[in-house]
Amino acid sequence: MAKIISGKEVSAAVKARVREECEQLKAQGVVPGLAVIIVGDDPASRVYVNNKKKACAEVGFHSEEFALPAETTEEELLSLVRELNERKDIHGILCQLPLPKHLDEKKVIHTIAPEKDVDAFHPSNVGQIMIGEYRFLPCTPAGVMEMIKSEGIEVSGKNCVVIGRSNIVGKPMAMLLLHENGTVTICHSRTKNLKEICSQADILVAAVGKPKFVTADMVKEGAVVLDVGINRDENGKLCGDVDFASVEKKAGYITPVPGGVGPMTIAMLMQNTLTAAKLLTGC
Ligand code: GUN
Repeated sequence: MAKIISGKEVSAAVKARVREECEQLKAQGVVPGLAVIIVGDDPASRVYVNNKKKACAEVGFHSEEFALPAETTEEELLSLVRELNERKDIHGILCQLPLPKHLDEKKVIHTIAPEKDVDAFHPSNVGQIMIGEYRFLPCTPAGVMEMIKSEGIEVSGKNCVVIGRSNIVGKPMAMLLLHENGTVTICHSRTKNLKEICSQADILVAAVGKPKFVTADMVKEGAVVLDVGINRDENGKLCGDVDFASVEKKAGYITPVPGGVGPMTIAMLMQNTLTAAKLLTGC
């Protein structure tokens, strides 16, 4: 049976560390501030934004929510971002995705000042990740790495397989594993022999967005399996991209859904906001 890596426990440790550093910043007169923009009324986005605000309160940050109506124009949204770029008391800016269809996500991401881009979605931050000279790591892949490290799992020389090639998770995930000297393969919807490739993985990251996509026959005995998916199964119950019940019996380590990578993403956002506050204030 696999050892379960608890995102609840690891994220609590990260947040405790951030909270402690936040206290030190406050003693120097700096309160880290995060602005969270949400446009429209997507229920999943609402839950994520509430969790982000809650985490800010837990670690002692100032947070401000900007809830804009679904019919907000591009210019209105961009002008809010520009205003937040200028504010001294705001160190991190996050615009919850997805945006309503008439708004161009790319334009919004490009408008956020790179030094306040705590999601690390701006091309300048993405580029810095490529060359290993980053100020922020994208929250979800950074959370996965933190979980791997929490168990003292060595990445160097290991076969790492990432399923999914999104800009938010798959691509930066592969890069972080590569920085740790893993031998990395990225699989996607056109990959041939997916099962064979996955079953060679010592470390397998599932970021496909399909419920219970990774089954036990795709997993090597003793592998480390990290599940980034948040889906609903046929009964409407939350589940990941990994078929937990069968894979748990074969893997060495596994992350659950819920209570796995999800809470880590938010903890790493807190970490990035702290970093932004330190860099912007020189504290
Ligand atoms: N939507 C889903 N994941 C994310 C994330 O990490 N950041 C933002 N801004 N929106 C998201």
